[in-house]
Order: sequence, then structure tokens, then C-alpha cells
Amino acid sequence: MSAGKFIVIEGIEGAGKSSAIAVIEQYLQQQNISFDKTREPGGTPLAEKLRTLVKEPCDEQITPECELFLMYASRSQLLHNKILPTLASGKWVIGDRHDLSSRAYQGGGREFNNDVIDSIANITLNGFKPHLTLYLDIEPELGLGRAQARGELDRIEQEKIEFFHKVRNKYLELANQDETIFIIDASQPMDKVHQDIRAVLGEQIGASDQ
Ligand code: TMP
Repeated sequence: MSAGKFIVIEGIEGAGKSSAIAVIEQYLQQQNISFDKTREPGGTPLAEKLRTLVKEPCDEQITPECELFLMYASRSQLLHNKILPTLASGKWVIGDRHDLSSRAYQGGGREFNNDVIDSIANITLNGFKPHLTLYLDIEPELGLGRAQARGELDRIEQEKIEFFHKVRNKYLELANQDETIFIIDASQPMDKVHQDIRAVLGEQIGASDQ
């Protein structure tokens, strides 16, 4: 039995991650590939507690360093207790966010430099990387507008629009440097976004040795 693959979906708030994940699920089901789903931060009981800590608005200022460490603390729990064992069992994993989020939000948004993030990422992930990442690209004004229309905003969603421009710029910069990351234009009509996602999956998974 071959090991499973890890497919990650990324993007700012309101980019349409949830419906994109549903498209990936349907695709894998059609290929008779069994999979589990994860989300970050979170995805294990302890990591979900860390998610609540990092997302809830808090009277005490959460420092950028604390935020960065909580993201990686959560990722470490998820990697060792869920992602790696699942992949080893032969199942695939669909991840709602992974390390690229820290690169974009903490690296781009909070302006931690690459060396700082690299050193924490190396300790946490030890070279582990998703097989395929789909980044849903959208103008922050459009994405945040959709997120606002959905209801109450979490602590990070309450950041100013400039923060999300820095996050998006970092996402684009990193996606353009990595051939395992595919940029999907998420401002298109939903049907077209989903068609583009299926096209990437067809190319990448169709060619795989699953
Ligand atoms: P979401 O899963 O509902 O999008 O919420 C997760 C929030 O946490 C979102 O605002 C992005 C942020 N985040 C980071 O800042 N860094 C990270 O490494 C991850 C995984 C998420």
C-alpha cells in the first residue's frame, strides 16, 4: 500500500475555501481515494484548544510572537498525531490551511522575516511539505466583504485591510516560487473557480501513482 498524499487549500477569509474543499472531496470520492480532512490551526483536541485561543478576541494583547508560536504549536500536534499517521495508513488528507498560512499571515501580515519562520518551521515540520497546494486568490476587499456578510469576525479577521493586502502579496510571492502551489482566481464565478480546481486536480492527481 502506498502512502497517501496531502492536499492543502489556502486563501484569505472569504476566498471560498469551504466550497473548494467540497470540490476536492467529491473529486477524490470519484477516484475511489479515501481521505480524512484537517484544519489549521486545530484538527486535534489540543490543537482545537489552541485554535480557540488564537482566534477569540482577547482583552489581553496577544503578541505577534505568541500568535506565531501558537500556530506552530498547533501544527506540530496535528502533524504528529493526525497527518502523518493518516498518510502512513494509505489515506489522503485534505488540509484547510497549513504552513503557507503562517508564511502569509505571520510572515507577510505580521512581517516576521523568512529566517525566523524558516527556523521554527524546520523544527516543527522537519522538511514535511504538502504534495499539492491550491491557493484561492482574491482581492481582500472582496474576500473580507464576504466574510463580514457571514457574521461576526474573529480576532484576525478584525485586522485592517492593509494587513490582508500584505498577506495576499506574500501568498502570491510564495506561490510563484513553488511549483507545488497552484493559484486559482477566486474572484471568478463559482462554477469557473470549481472548474479550475478540478482541472488542477485532474492534471496533478491524474498523473499520480495513487
Ligand atoms: P479559518 O480557518 O477560519 O480561516 O481561521 C484561521 C485564521 O487563522 C485565519 O484568519 C488565518 C489565521 N492563520 C494564521 O494567521 N496563521 C496560520 O498559520 C494559520 C494556519 C491560520
